[in-house]
Amino acid sequence: MNDVFLRACRREPVEYTPVWLMRQAGRYMEDYMKIRNNHTFLEMCRNPEIAAEVTLQPVNRLGVDAAIIFADILLPLDGMGLKLEFTKGEGPCIHNPVRSQRDVDRIPILGGEEMTPYVMEAIRLVRKELEGKLPLIGFAGAPFTLASYIIEGGSSRDYHQCKKMMWGAPQVWHQLMDKVTAVTLNYLRAQVKAGAQAIQLFDSWVGALHQDDYRQYVLAYSKQIIDGLKDTGVPVIHFANNGSTLLEAVAEAGGDVIGIDWRINLDEAWSRIGFDKGIQGNLDPSVLFAPTKIMQDKVRKILDQAGNRPGHIFNLGHGINKESQVEQVIALVETVHEYSRRN
Ligand code: CP3
Repeated sequence: MNDVFLRACRREPVEYTPVWLMRQAGRYMEDYMKIRNNHTFLEMCRNPEIAAEVTLQPVNRLGVDAAIIFADILLPLDGMGLKLEFTKGEGPCIHNPVRSQRDVDRIPILGGEEMTPYVMEAIRLVRKELEGKLPLIGFAGAPFTLASYIIEGGSSRDYHQCKKMMWGAPQVWHQLMDKVTAVTLNYLRAQVKAGAQAIQLFDSWVGALHQDDYRQYVLAYSKQIIDGLKDTGVPVIHFANNGSTLLEAVAEAGGDVIGIDWRINLDEAWSRIGFDKGIQGNLDPSVLFAPTKIMQDKVRKILDQAGNRPGHIFNLGHGINKESQVEQVIALVETVHEYSRRN
C-alpha cells in the first residue's frame, strides 16, 4: 500500500514528497475524451461505473500518490431542488438560483446517500478496484464557493448577487449558509462512510472576499464542516484558491493540510499558516506549458522551499488546464518524486 500521501497529511516522515493534481481526471486525457465524446459530463458523474473508470485513468497513467473521486462540487445541488446543467462553452448553469428567503426555505436537507447515491457507489467501486494500493480522496465545495453558484446561478466574475445578499439580507445569507453547511457535511460524511480516506474542501472562489467579510460571513461555516468530520479520523485538506490574503483566517477555520494557490511563495505561506499544519501546493498550472527544463526548475524551487519538512503534499495551485500535455504531466510527477527522495 502506497500510504505516503496519508502519512504526509498527518505530518509523518515520508521517503519522498507525495503528489496528486487537482482535476487530474479530465479533458487533457485521450482516454477521458473517448468516454466524454459519447456522454455529457453529468451523465459521466451519475454513472458509478464510468465515474470509477475515469477516477482510475490518471492513477494508472501518471503515477500519482492518490486518487480523487470523479465527481463535482455541484452534484449536491441535485438533492437541493436546484436545476443544474453544464452548457457547452459556458460552464455550469443553475436555472433556478436562490435569491430570497422563500427560495432558501424550499431547499431540503437530505442525507448523502439519498442526495447523490451514484457518488457513494462510485467511491465503493474505486476502493474495491484500488485494492488498498492507493488512497482515495473525496471532496466537496466549501460553503462560500457552493453558495456563490447557488446565488449567482453559475460562474461569476464579481459575485455581485452573492455579496448583495451577504450585506443586504444577512439573515437570508446566514440561513442559506446554514443549509449549505448541513448538506455538505452530510455529503462528506457519506463519502467517508463509503470509503473516502481523505477529504478536500474546495474554496475555489473565496479569494473574492476581504478578510473581514470572510471572518464575518464565511469562516464559521467552513469550520463547522471541518469540525464535523473530526470524529471520522480522515484528514481534511482545506484549499483556498486566490487566498494569499486570507491564509491565517482559512487556517483558523481548520484543516490538517491547507491548500494554497501559486501566487505566493510556499515557505512564506507555510510560516503564516503555522508549521503545525501541513501544506499542499503550489505550482502554477500554466507551467505545464513551459519548456520541461523551466517546469522542472520551478518544481525544485517549491520543493526547496518546503525543505523536507513533514507535511508537504505537492500539487498544482489550481486545477490542471485541459490543453495540458500528458507527457509533461508525467514529467512533473517524476520530477517531484526524484528530486524529493530522502535517502
Ligand atoms: O480532481 C479531479 O480529477 C476530480 C474531479 C473534479 C471535477 N470537478 C471534474 C470536472 C473536481 C475535484 C471538481 C471540482 C470543482 N468543480 C470545482 C472546484 C475545483 C476548482 O476548479 O476550483 C469547481 C469550481 C467545479 C465546478 C465546475 N465543474 C466548473 C466551473 C466546471 C466547468 C469548467 C470547464 O472548464 O468547463 C466543471 C466541469 C468539470 N468538472 C469538468 C471536470 C472533468 C469538465 C467537464 C467536461 O468534461 O466537459
